[in-house]
Amino acid sequence: MNSSDSDARLIEGILRLKRERNAIILAHNYQLGEVQDIADFVGDSLELSQKAAQTGAEVIVFCGVLFMAETASILCPDKRVLLPDIHAGCPMADMITAEGLRQKKIEHPGATVVCYINSSAEVKAESDVCCTSANAANIVEKLPEGRKILFVPDQYLGHYTSTRTGREMILWPGFCPTHTRIKSQDIIRLKQEHPQAKVVVHPECRPDVIALADEVLSTGGIRRFARSTTATEVIVGTEIGMLHRLRKENPNKSFIPVSEQAVCPRMKLITLENVLWSLEEMEPEVKVPEEIRLRAKAAVDKMLEVG
Ligand code: 13P
Ligand code: SF4
Repeated sequence: MNSSDSDARLIEGILRLKRERNAIILAHNYQLGEVQDIADFVGDSLELSQKAAQTGAEVIVFCGVLFMAETASILCPDKRVLLPDIHAGCPMADMITAEGLRQKKIEHPGATVVCYINSSAEVKAESDVCCTSANAANIVEKLPEGRKILFVPDQYLGHYTSTRTGREMILWPGFCPTHTRIKSQDIIRLKQEHPQAKVVVHPECRPDVIALADEVLSTGGIRRFARSTTATEVIVGTEIGMLHRLRKENPNKSFIPVSEQAVCPRMKLITLENVLWSLEEMEPEVKVPEEIRLRAKAAVDKMLEVG
């Protein structure tokens, strides 16, 4: 049996079980191409959490990383949330613990804690409001003037948000190991090779990379930009899974990754095989304990109100 025959069998099994279980498959923009292609919805963290909150399905198969599945569980406690590989965690989210955050809050009494969605449910439960890369500036702008702000855990999204809003913030020193592989010297070289190209990067990149970009956007924003730009060449500074969708939706445009090394290994743990297995076994289930869920939900709800 060749690989396309075996993929076809896997896909057939997934679609059948999805119907039988009344399940929806949500996938992040960094997932493997074949996983994105079987999903009911593909999007960025904000879009995926909105979709999870709205779905009428009984089961959510989350093709992404642990914090995304936890967010779905926080918003939909009555649904069964499956993460096909339970080891698919986000290393940046693991750079902060609830205990560490509690200590920091003691050092900065009265500070409003803005928590990037790339964090555990326990950390969200210690925070005042969540944000994603799509709405961080919007959320921070709405905080009362003069309020001390503690931004966790991504120092680079925090730094970028601070420059956009003019608000000073205390930054937790977390970062995304995948986005730090995107280097300014590579963008400078690619701009010389493709002088007409637009440069779009994710706000998890370092400030020297952001300084070279025409647009700094969430993965959902990158997708919309790619569709609407009149440029026919786009230099893309984010995880390379993004290119699958950009190329599929814009066959007449050329997308050039800043770095082929910008791979998130945890995102790639989700495969057609484990999606099928997960639907068969109805595990691994991600369920946030109720006491943490309620406190984390308050921070996520505040974010969703802003949009
Ligand atoms: P987006 O919300 O922009 O999709 O980003 C999620 C993420 O993990 C980026 O590394
Ligand atoms: Fe986490 Fe970075 Fe992977 Fe996004 S790309 S899930 S921030 S490690």
